[in-house]
Amino acid sequence: MAKFRLFGSKTDEVSDRELVNRRLARTVAAEGMVLLKNDGVLPLQSKRLALFGAGARMTVKGGTGSGNMQERYSVSIEEGLKNAGFEIVSTRWLDRFDASYAAEKEAWRRSIEERIKHYKPWQVQRMFDEVIHVTPLRFPIGDEIRPEDLPEDTDTAIYAVARQAGESTDRRLEKGDYYLSDVEEKNLRVLTEKYDKVLLLVNCGGILDLSVLDTVSGIGAVLYFVQGGEEGGNAFADLVSGSVTPSGRLTDTWAKKYEDYPCAGEFGTMGDVLQQDYKEGIYVGYRWFDVNGIEPRWPFGYGLSYADFEIKEQGTKICGSTVSVSVCVRNVSLEYSGKEVVQLYIAKPDGKLPKERKALVAFRKTGLLVPGDQETGTLEFNMEDCAVYDGESACRILEAGEYGIYLGSDSRKNTLCAVLVLDETIVIEKLTNILPVPHPVDTFVPDRVMVDYPREVPRLAVDTGSFVTREVIYGDRRPVIKTKQAGEYIKSLSDKELVELCVGPGYSGLGYNVTPTAVGRTSISLLGRGIPNINFSDGPAGLNLCPKNAYTRSGIPNYIDEVPKDWQWGWIRKIEPFVLAKPGRGYRVYQYMTCFPAVTLQAQTWNPALIEEVGKAIGTEMTETGVTLWLAPGMNIHRNPLCGRNFEYYSEDPFLSGTMAAAVTKGVQSYRGLGVTIKHFCCNNQEDKRETVSENVPERALREIYLRGFEIAVREAKPWAVMTSYNLVNGVHTFASRDLCAKVLRSEWGHDGLVMTDWTASEKNPGEHTACILSGNDLIMPGHPKAKKELRNALKSGRLKRADLETAAANVLNVIFSSNVWEI
Ligand code: BGC
Repeated sequence: MAKFRLFGSKTDEVSDRELVNRRLARTVAAEGMVLLKNDGVLPLQSKRLALFGAGARMTVKGGTGSGNMQERYSVSIEEGLKNAGFEIVSTRWLDRFDASYAAEKEAWRRSIEERIKHYKPWQVQRMFDEVIHVTPLRFPIGDEIRPEDLPEDTDTAIYAVARQAGESTDRRLEKGDYYLSDVEEKNLRVLTEKYDKVLLLVNCGGILDLSVLDTVSGIGAVLYFVQGGEEGGNAFADLVSGSVTPSGRLTDTWAKKYEDYPCAGEFGTMGDVLQQDYKEGIYVGYRWFDVNGIEPRWPFGYGLSYADFEIKEQGTKICGSTVSVSVCVRNVSLEYSGKEVVQLYIAKPDGKLPKERKALVAFRKTGLLVPGDQETGTLEFNMEDCAVYDGESACRILEAGEYGIYLGSDSRKNTLCAVLVLDETIVIEKLTNILPVPHPVDTFVPDRVMVDYPREVPRLAVDTGSFVTREVIYGDRRPVIKTKQAGEYIKSLSDKELVELCVGPGYSGLGYNVTPTAVGRTSISLLGRGIPNINFSDGPAGLNLCPKNAYTRSGIPNYIDEVPKDWQWGWIRKIEPFVLAKPGRGYRVYQYMTCFPAVTLQAQTWNPALIEEVGKAIGTEMTETGVTLWLAPGMNIHRNPLCGRNFEYYSEDPFLSGTMAAAVTKGVQSYRGLGVTIKHFCCNNQEDKRETVSENVPERALREIYLRGFEIAVREAKPWAVMTSYNLVNGVHTFASRDLCAKVLRSEWGHDGLVMTDWTASEKNPGEHTACILSGNDLIMPGHPKAKKELRNALKSGRLKRADLETAAANVLNVIFSSNVWEI
């Protein structure tokens, strides 16, 4: 048997797979960018453009941290426009921007080098923790535009505001981050004074304050670019040139001012950074704006098109518990083809429990409709999914009353099309209460409303006989055996071997199956017993793997075969002799992975079928690189616009998040042997102090908002794995919460796959590795010898039973023996 097996490609030539996936990345990016304002600016008339702003050349393709990507290249906005035949006539400002940023970067590099002088090469981690991470290079804002920077020979200017964010830190409520900087605002003013047509482009993974639109007149168009992935620049050009009509819709509410958001003044470091009380309850995003009558700048679900559409309801039916609304969408514009997103909302009656004014229950994106063309389709949902959680009885109930069904094109622009009448309250599911809040949370209660629906709207009686109450049995946990091998091994492995299976081998270490730079793997110490390792790679914008790798003949990784050009850090020189491959010796492995647009942008397509294609494309890359589990999709709820990782998550709405996560899961898992890992379960809604913050969430909000998306993904698509989060929920670390990992995930939702920790999450406090296994979190990642020792001691002391380990190990074995790479 060979000592190791390397995946990836042996050549760095562009493969057919790259070309195909790159095209898909462009389609998704163009379909997800949202046109927010357009007073006759787009599509562009002029072929000569004055382009400014940090995002013009330094276009942010995605966020930082584990959600980053290392693609072959990414197309900037300037390049995209040029590729599409536009001429950029503002190079003077752009060149000056480049030069001043290069100088800033050089000064930063020198200061870092100075400060790491005294570290030894093997102290790389410390260098990062103590110097590099704490003094990151500032993302540039851009210089002031001077009169001589303004070209005369065009009437059109584009200003690309850009922001960078990523894990470990939240965004800041400051100028230059959430707010435009003074320079940016001034520049926009200068441009509007000079040019007839000004397009503001927002190249940011989350919401920005755009009150500049109220103070500077003349910004004729706004486009939310988000982070467009490697093809972002080309996709942008597709939209502004008119070759693609915008069809993206917002997945979050854009407030007129930050203070309009719930928990505004108390989020993260602005409040108690270690105790976040979810006082807003279920009223997150549009639910908050609706119930408080706050006018947003742009509502959830909003987005413009070049075309105009007419949406007509053609009849609503209820059959058992399934409601279906038939709809016809017609493109009534004369000039432009386009796609419309039809959205269906439900207004539940206030009863024992107050409700949100409206909640999204179904949506549908049309195909491309040419002018005059129409498409008929059905939007469907199950009434059971509208049940609410009643903590008093620990049941999900559908309260008696009238349910309004609204059809339209966003959360504000919709019309009542039918009323469902439920005569008695139905108990849908009998559950058990979980995770009590550690102290009373003064939860917001809206005023009750009695909606008087107009008489002429059709009333449909809901047949109460079509519901059957389910009672969840919270039994003891037992090993779930899904593969023959898992069944055979689980009894024959020693206690020590079971421990090896439940703890990863750490960051480094060579596996038998080698995916260079994979961020995690299972143990290889059982290879002699016929159990190979499997590899995990980050996402969620693709596979985060290093493109160029080198290995010695005996399989020792050199990690890199050349220093990437943008590695400015002086520390690399220190470790160079240890990590650089000798020219011409050993193996070279290439992994050029596609950088898809940020997850928020993907959700803005409102097109699950397209996102399923993204999953399939990622599946081809996992197969090529020997990755079994993709550590994605990220699917936490956008509770506040300042969360540093919002770009990795879909939306403020759980239904949309769950539907999109299910779609990408289906795509990846359509391949034999590949699985996804939905993360971060749950409430990882703040990055500052993410490992110690307790997210104190009243149970109703926990179940209806923060768990709901995960539930949809688990029930609809059966993801192979779930990653617990760093934070605590109601005073308990999620990875050590039996309520979350065993009761909710497995007993209530039927997840029978793997549960793993987030990286090093359980390493901080003694006893937490054991708590993981006892709670139903099977795999400790990335793993550490201390974790193994703790588990072995816990077995000796009786705190942990062999049966607990068998249950956890079976879930690891099931994945290994179902994987794409298990055959040795
Ligand atoms: C992130 C996870 C990621 C893991 C492995 C953690 O810091 O929170 O999302 O999957 O690292 O890179």
